[in-house]
Amino acid sequence: MKNIVVTGGAGFIGSNFVRYLLERYPNYHVVVYDNLTYAGNLDNLQDVSERFAERYDFVRADICDAKEVERVVQQYSVDTIVNFAAESHVDRSLMEPGGFIQTDVYGTYVLLEAARKFGVERYHQVSTDEVYGQVLDGRSTESDRLHTRSPYSASKAGGDLMCLAYFTSFGVPVTITRGSNNIGPYQYPEKVVPLFVTNAIDDLPLPLYGDGLQMRDYQYVLDHCEGIDVVLHKGQIGEIYNLGTGTETRNIDMAHLILKLLDKPQSLLQPITDRPGHDRRYALDCRKIQSIGWQSRHTFEEALEKTVRWYVDNQWWWRKIKSGAHYEEYYTRQYAGREINPAAT
Ligand code: NAD
Ligand code: DAU
Repeated sequence: MKNIVVTGGAGFIGSNFVRYLLERYPNYHVVVYDNLTYAGNLDNLQDVSERFAERYDFVRADICDAKEVERVVQQYSVDTIVNFAAESHVDRSLMEPGGFIQTDVYGTYVLLEAARKFGVERYHQVSTDEVYGQVLDGRSTESDRLHTRSPYSASKAGGDLMCLAYFTSFGVPVTITRGSNNIGPYQYPEKVVPLFVTNAIDDLPLPLYGDGLQMRDYQYVLDHCEGIDVVLHKGQIGEIYNLGTGTETRNIDMAHLILKLLDKPQSLLQPITDRPGHDRRYALDCRKIQSIGWQSRHTFEEALEKTVRWYVDNQWWWRKIKSGAHYEEYYTRQYAGREINPAAT
């Protein structure tokens, strides 16, 4: 039996990863360690707790709480830590950066200390392509310099560097994946795809930043989960692996396709003032992870179609979030008063 702690396992990617692991490996016991911020949601794991009751536990706690982290690592004889826990939304990092530094940097340090103290077999850090900063030409390779431009990406880079320091200085067996934008079930509707899909279902405007020509590599969340699994089993310790499809889509084209899939008018598209410091393009060179046996399974169109269908079929999930006070307050703070930008169409 393997004993894995998945921090941030009640969030979007973490909950998909937990379901994926339990379905795939009958000899794995998974402890989700999550303090349930606004983005953590036990609805994401409702089916998991019913289907895998004997091999799944949930602990509500903060990764910055060293005592609690150590207790869990000891109590469950943990051999693997996979860290998804983070403040993850760029726009929020522009409003309140402090929480990002706390969780994404300090929290990573606390987990690494526990990994070191109790000699875990693997510590895996789930990182992001945003640490390379915007890439106007070419593709980022794992050895490229970090050039972060938002408090979110700077905090994630801090976490990555701490992992590499713990590998070099103390021999903690770390691996790191740097993933591109994920889409799929259970993504909090602050991120662009679930925000646009759920707004379009309700005939609300789709707030497109700037000229909409920014490019992202949108990958299906289960492809990302599979990539992390491949690195856990075949990755080399101390190494970083880029993880994406290697193809990019312009935001404006993604928005048009969502409206088309939902049979909604293109007039719902509402270009507004740009995000400050908005990274124009991310693009990953993924040959390293491909060389250890991972390949993305979904094209962008397939991933988007599956995602749109899930939000149409699971309105119970996102309507609960969108009708809550926290969401309304955030939405008003983020979007009210932003000017319409006639430059884009
Ligand atoms: P999310 O915001 O949906 O989930 C984050 C989870 O972490 C939540 O359940 C939250 O409650 C938990 N959490 C936050 N702070 C915590 C703390 N201090 N202690 C314990 N739990 C805490 O995020 P996501 O989109 O699922 O992203 C997961 C990870 O993957 C993050 O590290 C993110 O940087 C990385 N990543 C995300 C994407 C993406 O497109 N979403 C792409 C690449 C990498
Ligand atoms: O690249 C990986 C990263 O992808 C992850 O590390 C982050 O956790 C995740 O949030 C995501 O960051 P982005 O900033 O790329 O994602 P977001 O969904 O916020 O925005 C995607 C693109 O859409 C980006 O170019 C900004 C644009 N956008 C976003 C929002 C929320 C809009 O045009 N309008 C919006 O309302």
